[in-house]
Amino acid sequence: MKLSALTAVTALLLGLLLFAAVCHAGDPAARAQYGSSPHTDSGDCSLCHVAPPEKLRSWFAFASTKKEMKGGPVQVCQTCHGSGFGHATGSMTAINRAKLPLAVDGTITCATTCHQMHIHTDDPQQTFYRLRLPADSLCLSCHDK
Ligand code: HEC
Ligand code: HEC
Ligand code: HEC
Repeated sequence: MKLSALTAVTALLLGLLLFAAVCHAGDPAARAQYGSSPHTDSGDCSLCHVAPPEKLRSWFAFASTKKEMKGGPVQVCQTCHGSGFGHATGSMTAINRAKLPLAVDGTITCATTCHQMHIHTDDPQQTFYRLRLPADSLCLSCHDK
Protein backbone atom coordinates (compact mmCIF):
# COMPACT_ATOMS: atom_id res chain seq x y z
CA MET A 1 0.00 0.00 0.00
CA LYS A 2 1.28 3.53 -0.83
CA LEU A 3 2.36 5.64 2.14
CA SER A 4 -0.14 8.42 1.42
CA ALA A 5 -2.95 5.87 1.23
CA LEU A 6 -1.79 4.30 4.49
CA THR A 7 -1.75 7.72 6.15
CA ALA A 8 -5.29 8.38 4.96
CA VAL A 9 -6.52 5.00 6.15
CA THR A 10 -4.69 5.47 9.46
CA ALA A 11 -6.33 8.87 9.94
CA LEU A 12 -9.68 7.30 9.15
CA LEU A 13 -9.11 4.44 11.58
CA LEU A 14 -8.00 6.83 14.30
CA GLY A 15 -11.10 8.92 13.63
CA LEU A 16 -13.23 5.81 13.99
CA LEU A 17 -11.41 4.88 17.19
CA LEU A 18 -12.06 8.34 18.61
CA PHE A 19 -15.67 8.25 17.48
CA ALA A 20 -16.08 4.84 19.08
CA ALA A 21 -14.45 6.04 22.31
CA VAL A 22 -16.82 8.99 22.54
CA CYS A 23 -19.87 6.80 21.88
CA HIS A 24 -18.49 3.97 23.99
CA ALA A 25 -18.93 1.47 21.20
CA GLY A 26 -16.36 -1.28 21.66
CA ASP A 27 -17.33 -4.41 19.77
CA PRO A 28 -21.09 -4.54 19.11
CA ALA A 29 -20.93 -8.23 18.05
CA ALA A 30 -19.21 -9.25 21.31
CA ARG A 31 -21.66 -7.15 23.32
CA ALA A 32 -24.62 -8.82 21.62
CA GLN A 33 -23.28 -12.21 22.64
CA TYR A 34 -21.61 -11.60 26.01
CA GLY A 35 -23.23 -8.43 27.36
CA SER A 36 -21.28 -5.46 28.67
CA SER A 37 -17.50 -5.35 28.78
CA PRO A 38 -15.88 -7.94 31.06
CA HIS A 39 -12.67 -5.88 31.05
CA THR A 40 -13.03 -4.23 34.45
CA ASP A 41 -11.00 -4.63 37.63
CA SER A 42 -13.85 -6.65 39.11
CA GLY A 43 -14.49 -8.72 35.97
CA ASP A 44 -14.03 -12.49 35.66
CA CYS A 45 -10.27 -13.08 35.55
CA SER A 46 -10.75 -16.68 34.48
CA LEU A 47 -11.96 -15.57 31.04
CA CYS A 48 -8.27 -15.26 30.17
CA HIS A 49 -6.14 -16.41 33.11
CA VAL A 50 -5.32 -19.94 34.21
CA ALA A 51 -4.42 -18.85 37.78
CA PRO A 52 -7.30 -18.01 40.17
CA PRO A 53 -7.80 -14.36 41.23
CA GLU A 54 -6.27 -14.91 44.70
CA LYS A 55 -3.08 -16.04 43.05
CA LEU A 56 -3.18 -13.22 40.49
CA ARG A 57 -3.40 -10.70 43.32
CA SER A 58 -0.81 -12.43 45.51
CA TRP A 59 2.70 -11.08 46.03
CA PHE A 60 3.99 -14.64 46.18
CA ALA A 61 3.01 -15.95 42.75
CA PHE A 62 5.49 -16.06 39.89
CA ALA A 63 5.07 -13.54 37.05
CA SER A 64 5.00 -16.51 34.66
CA THR A 65 2.03 -17.98 36.57
CA LYS A 66 0.24 -14.63 36.43
CA LYS A 67 0.81 -14.39 32.70
CA GLU A 68 -0.35 -17.89 31.84
CA MET A 69 -3.36 -17.54 29.53
CA LYS A 70 -6.16 -19.95 28.60
CA GLY A 71 -5.13 -19.74 24.97
CA GLY A 72 -2.57 -18.16 22.72
CA PRO A 73 -2.31 -14.35 22.77
CA VAL A 74 -4.49 -14.02 19.67
CA GLN A 75 -6.94 -16.84 20.32
CA VAL A 76 -7.71 -15.77 23.91
CA CYS A 77 -9.25 -12.58 22.51
CA GLN A 78 -10.72 -14.00 19.30
CA THR A 79 -12.82 -16.50 21.28
CA CYS A 80 -15.20 -13.61 21.91
CA HIS A 81 -14.14 -10.92 19.46
CA GLY A 82 -13.87 -13.06 16.33
CA SER A 83 -11.20 -12.35 13.76
CA GLY A 84 -12.83 -9.33 12.11
CA PHE A 85 -12.39 -7.07 15.16
CA GLY A 86 -9.28 -4.96 15.40
CA HIS A 87 -6.02 -4.85 13.49
CA ALA A 88 -4.43 -7.65 11.43
CA THR A 89 -2.62 -10.16 13.67
CA GLY A 90 -0.41 -13.09 12.83
CA SER A 91 1.77 -10.98 10.48
CA MET A 92 5.41 -10.18 10.91
CA THR A 93 6.31 -6.50 11.22
CA ALA A 94 9.36 -5.06 9.47
CA ILE A 95 9.55 -2.08 11.86
CA ASN A 96 9.04 -2.17 15.64
CA ARG A 97 10.37 1.14 16.94
CA ALA A 98 8.81 0.90 20.40
CA LYS A 99 9.90 -2.74 20.81
CA LEU A 100 6.31 -3.89 21.28
CA PRO A 101 6.17 -7.48 22.55
CA LEU A 102 5.57 -9.94 19.71
CA ALA A 103 4.70 -13.66 19.79
CA VAL A 104 7.63 -16.08 20.06
CA ASP A 105 7.53 -16.48 16.27
CA GLY A 106 7.76 -12.69 15.80
CA THR A 107 4.14 -12.10 14.75
CA ILE A 108 1.70 -9.46 16.00
CA THR A 109 -0.71 -10.56 18.74
CA CYS A 110 -3.85 -8.99 20.24
CA ALA A 111 -3.17 -9.58 23.92
CA THR A 112 0.46 -8.55 24.15
CA THR A 113 1.57 -6.44 21.15
CA CYS A 114 -0.93 -3.59 21.00
CA HIS A 115 -3.15 -4.23 24.02
CA GLN A 116 -2.27 -4.17 27.69
CA MET A 117 -5.47 -5.29 29.40
CA HIS A 118 -4.55 -3.79 32.78
CA ILE A 119 -3.42 -0.35 31.73
CA HIS A 120 -4.64 2.82 33.44
CA THR A 121 -3.41 6.15 32.07
CA ASP A 122 -4.60 9.77 31.90
CA ASP A 123 -5.37 9.28 28.20
CA PRO A 124 -9.05 8.16 28.06
CA GLN A 125 -8.73 6.64 24.57
CA GLN A 126 -5.66 4.62 25.53
CA THR A 127 -7.32 3.43 28.72
CA PHE A 128 -10.65 2.56 27.09
CA TYR A 129 -8.99 0.47 24.37
CA ARG A 130 -6.36 -0.88 26.78
CA LEU A 131 -3.59 0.19 24.45
CA ARG A 132 0.02 -0.37 25.41
CA LEU A 133 0.89 3.11 24.08
CA PRO A 134 -1.23 6.16 23.20
CA ALA A 135 -2.90 5.36 19.84
CA ASP A 136 -0.81 7.64 17.62
CA SER A 137 2.56 6.50 18.93
CA LEU A 138 1.33 2.90 18.89
CA CYS A 139 0.62 3.02 15.15
CA LEU A 140 3.84 4.91 14.41
CA SER A 141 5.81 2.23 16.16
CA CYS A 142 5.37 0.04 13.06
CA HIS A 143 4.02 2.42 10.40
CA ASP A 144 5.58 5.51 8.87
CA LYS A 145 3.68 8.79 8.87
C1 HEC B 1 -9.34 -10.29 28.54
C2 HEC B 1 -8.29 -11.09 29.12
C3 HEC B 1 -7.90 -10.81 30.56
C4 HEC B 1 -8.73 -10.75 31.66
C5 HEC B 1 -10.23 -10.95 31.73
C6 HEC B 1 -7.87 -10.50 32.80
N1 HEC B 1 -6.56 -10.41 32.38
FE1 HEC B 1 -4.90 -10.19 33.56
N2 HEC B 1 -3.70 -10.24 31.94
C7 HEC B 1 -4.13 -10.41 30.65
C8 HEC B 1 -2.99 -10.37 29.77
C9 HEC B 1 -3.05 -10.52 28.25
C10 HEC B 1 -1.84 -10.18 30.58
C11 HEC B 1 -0.40 -10.03 30.14
C12 HEC B 1 0.19 -11.36 29.73
C13 HEC B 1 1.61 -11.21 29.22
O1 HEC B 1 2.20 -10.13 29.36
O2 HEC B 1 2.11 -12.19 28.69
C14 HEC B 1 -2.34 -10.12 31.95
C15 HEC B 1 -1.51 -9.98 33.05
C16 HEC B 1 -1.95 -9.97 34.34
C17 HEC B 1 -1.08 -9.90 35.50
C18 HEC B 1 0.44 -9.90 35.48
C19 HEC B 1 1.00 -8.54 35.69
C20 HEC B 1 0.70 -7.64 34.54
O3 HEC B 1 -0.03 -6.65 34.74
O4 HEC B 1 1.15 -7.93 33.42
C21 HEC B 1 -1.88 -9.87 36.61
C22 HEC B 1 -1.45 -9.76 38.06
C23 HEC B 1 -3.25 -9.94 36.14
N3 HEC B 1 -3.26 -10.00 34.75
C24 HEC B 1 -4.37 -9.93 36.96
C25 HEC B 1 -5.69 -10.05 36.52
C26 HEC B 1 -6.85 -10.08 37.41
C27 HEC B 1 -6.79 -9.95 38.92
C28 HEC B 1 -7.95 -10.22 36.60
C29 HEC B 1 -9.42 -10.27 37.01
C30 HEC B 1 -9.90 -9.10 37.75
C31 HEC B 1 -7.49 -10.26 35.22
N4 HEC B 1 -6.13 -10.16 35.21
C32 HEC B 1 -8.31 -10.38 34.10
C33 HEC B 1 -5.43 -10.61 30.23
C34 HEC B 1 -6.54 -10.60 31.02
C1 HEC C 1 -15.58 -13.47 27.31
C2 HEC C 1 -15.47 -12.73 26.08
C3 HEC C 1 -14.33 -11.77 25.88
C4 HEC C 1 -12.98 -12.04 25.86
C5 HEC C 1 -12.27 -13.36 26.11
C6 HEC C 1 -12.33 -10.80 25.48
N1 HEC C 1 -13.27 -9.81 25.32
FE1 HEC C 1 -12.89 -7.88 24.89
N2 HEC C 1 -14.87 -7.42 25.12
C7 HEC C 1 -15.87 -8.35 25.33
C8 HEC C 1 -17.16 -7.66 25.42
C9 HEC C 1 -18.51 -8.30 25.65
C10 HEC C 1 -16.88 -6.29 25.25
C11 HEC C 1 -17.87 -5.12 25.30
C12 HEC C 1 -18.24 -4.76 23.87
C13 HEC C 1 -19.08 -3.50 23.83
O1 HEC C 1 -19.63 -3.09 24.85
O2 HEC C 1 -19.14 -2.93 22.74
C14 HEC C 1 -15.42 -6.17 25.05
C15 HEC C 1 -14.77 -4.98 24.83
C16 HEC C 1 -13.43 -4.87 24.47
C17 HEC C 1 -12.76 -3.65 24.12
C18 HEC C 1 -13.39 -2.26 24.06
C19 HEC C 1 -13.26 -1.61 25.41
C20 HEC C 1 -14.31 -2.07 26.41
O3 HEC C 1 -13.92 -2.45 27.53
O4 HEC C 1 -15.52 -2.05 26.09
C21 HEC C 1 -11.45 -3.97 23.84
C22 HEC C 1 -10.34 -3.03 23.44
C23 HEC C 1 -11.31 -5.40 24.03
N3 HEC C 1 -12.53 -5.92 24.41
C24 HEC C 1 -10.15 -6.09 23.83
C25 HEC C 1 -9.96 -7.44 24.18
C26 HEC C 1 -8.68 -8.12 24.14
C27 HEC C 1 -7.38 -7.49 23.67
C28 HEC C 1 -8.91 -9.38 24.57
C29 HEC C 1 -7.89 -10.47 24.78
C30 HEC C 1 -6.77 -10.15 25.66
C31 HEC C 1 -10.33 -9.51 24.87
N4 HEC C 1 -10.93 -8.30 24.62
C32 HEC C 1 -10.96 -10.66 25.32
C33 HEC C 1 -15.71 -9.69 25.46
C34 HEC C 1 -14.50 -10.36 25.54
C1 HEC D 1 3.34 -4.18 15.90
C2 HEC D 1 3.33 -3.46 14.63
C3 HEC D 1 2.08 -2.71 14.23
C4 HEC D 1 1.34 -1.81 14.96
C5 HEC D 1 1.56 -1.39 16.40
C6 HEC D 1 0.31 -1.31 14.08
N1 HEC D 1 0.41 -1.91 12.87
FE1 HEC D 1 -0.83 -1.64 11.28
N2 HEC D 1 0.11 -3.13 10.26
C7 HEC D 1 1.25 -3.78 10.69
C8 HEC D 1 1.60 -4.80 9.69
C9 HEC D 1 2.79 -5.74 9.75
C10 HEC D 1 0.63 -4.71 8.67
C11 HEC D 1 0.51 -5.56 7.41
C12 HEC D 1 -0.44 -6.71 7.76
C13 HEC D 1 -0.65 -7.67 6.62
O1 HEC D 1 -0.71 -7.21 5.46
O2 HEC D 1 -0.77 -8.86 6.89
C14 HEC D 1 -0.29 -3.63 9.07
C15 HEC D 1 -1.39 -3.24 8.30
C16 HEC D 1 -2.14 -2.11 8.57
C17 HEC D 1 -3.13 -1.53 7.67
C18 HEC D 1 -3.47 -2.05 6.31
C19 HEC D 1 -4.75 -2.84 6.36
C20 HEC D 1 -4.48 -4.29 6.26
O3 HEC D 1 -5.10 -5.05 7.00
O4 HEC D 1 -3.62 -4.69 5.42
C21 HEC D 1 -3.65 -0.44 8.28
C22 HEC D 1 -4.72 0.50 7.76
C23 HEC D 1 -2.99 -0.32 9.59
N3 HEC D 1 -2.07 -1.36 9.72
C24 HEC D 1 -3.27 0.66 10.49
C25 HEC D 1 -2.74 0.70 11.79
C26 HEC D 1 -3.19 1.61 12.83
C27 HEC D 1 -4.26 2.67 12.66
C28 HEC D 1 -2.45 1.30 13.93
C29 HEC D 1 -2.55 1.92 15.31
C30 HEC D 1 -3.89 1.88 15.94
C31 HEC D 1 -1.54 0.22 13.59
N4 HEC D 1 -1.76 -0.12 12.28
C32 HEC D 1 -0.64 -0.36 14.45
C33 HEC D 1 1.92 -3.56 11.84
C34 HEC D 1 1.49 -2.77 12.90
